[in-house]
Amino acid sequence: MSSTLSDSGNGGDWAGDRDALADILAFHLEAGVDVALGEEPVDRFAESQAARAAPPSLAAPDSPRRTAPEGAAPGAAAPAPRRAPMPAPAIPASPPPPDVAALEAREAAASAPDLDALRALLESFEGCPLKHTATRLVFADGNPAARLMLVGEAPGRDEDIEGKPFVGRSGKLLDRMLAAIGIDRTSAYIANVVPWRPPGNRTPTPQETAICLPFIRRQIELANPDLLVCLGGPSAQTLLGLRDGITKGRGRWVEYDTGSRTIPALATFHPAYLLRTPLGKRMAWRDMLAIEARLAQQPGATGGD
Ligand code: URA
Repeated sequence: MSSTLSDSGNGGDWAGDRDALADILAFHLEAGVDVALGEEPVDRFAESQAARAAPPSLAAPDSPRRTAPEGAAPGAAAPAPRRAPMPAPAIPASPPPPDVAALEAREAAASAPDLDALRALLESFEGCPLKHTATRLVFADGNPAARLMLVGEAPGRDEDIEGKPFVGRSGKLLDRMLAAIGIDRTSAYIANVVPWRPPGNRTPTPQETAICLPFIRRQIELANPDLLVCLGGPSAQTLLGLRDGITKGRGRWVEYDTGSRTIPALATFHPAYLLRTPLGKRMAWRDMLAIEARLAQQPGATGGD
């Protein structure tokens, strides 16, 4: 862009700038960039130019190779080389390699005696790079003592802002689906396989999922529901080992080993898919009825006690 908004001299230029800015904004939104990660813009081009201009190796302050400038008193140290100040990196620390992070996740998750401890461990866990691009951890919503637990893929923008799973458009549809069988968030516990929002709502990578998997598995074990429902293919693939696509694999009861016991589990369509594909609602309705019937078969009330 050749000029800024403030230095545009006439209405025509301003209109051009405005259109150019609108184009850039639209491009970023389309590419999934819908949130600012920092307060100030960072000029990555200037950063890489500064890095290229910096001397290849920077002498330590007491390096014997530093010589005093001509005319200085014998023994006087030369001034330290001037360096361009390096801007603070956007990501505070580089996380460990994925296999190391997954190992750390397994150890941390296994050490959690209860859900509060698990949440605290996740809050301090540095192994998943998504933590640094997300606004906050999205741990769970609903009643952890409920007999029904639902697990989605990963938080979206609204969830990232509120810190609760399924609060956006797909969450509203999920609430309506649950209400149709007499369930609300006091009688269901809701979480995601990945508890941090991937930038631009992209699909979590297999590495990110593998790192987060021990935490969600422990979360299920500690919540100890009677029924597990996976919302969408990625959740069902990760937790239930579903190999078929969700259209083929949904609606079938399988066994899920929580680590302490085996419970019935079912995959159904993700509500975001149903928003895009209303024809799927008929199948999803069948799944909701199957969940209702299965809960009725099991001892105890719908809500946790
Ligand atoms: N989609 C998910 O999978 N999880 C959420 O929390 C929201 C949308």
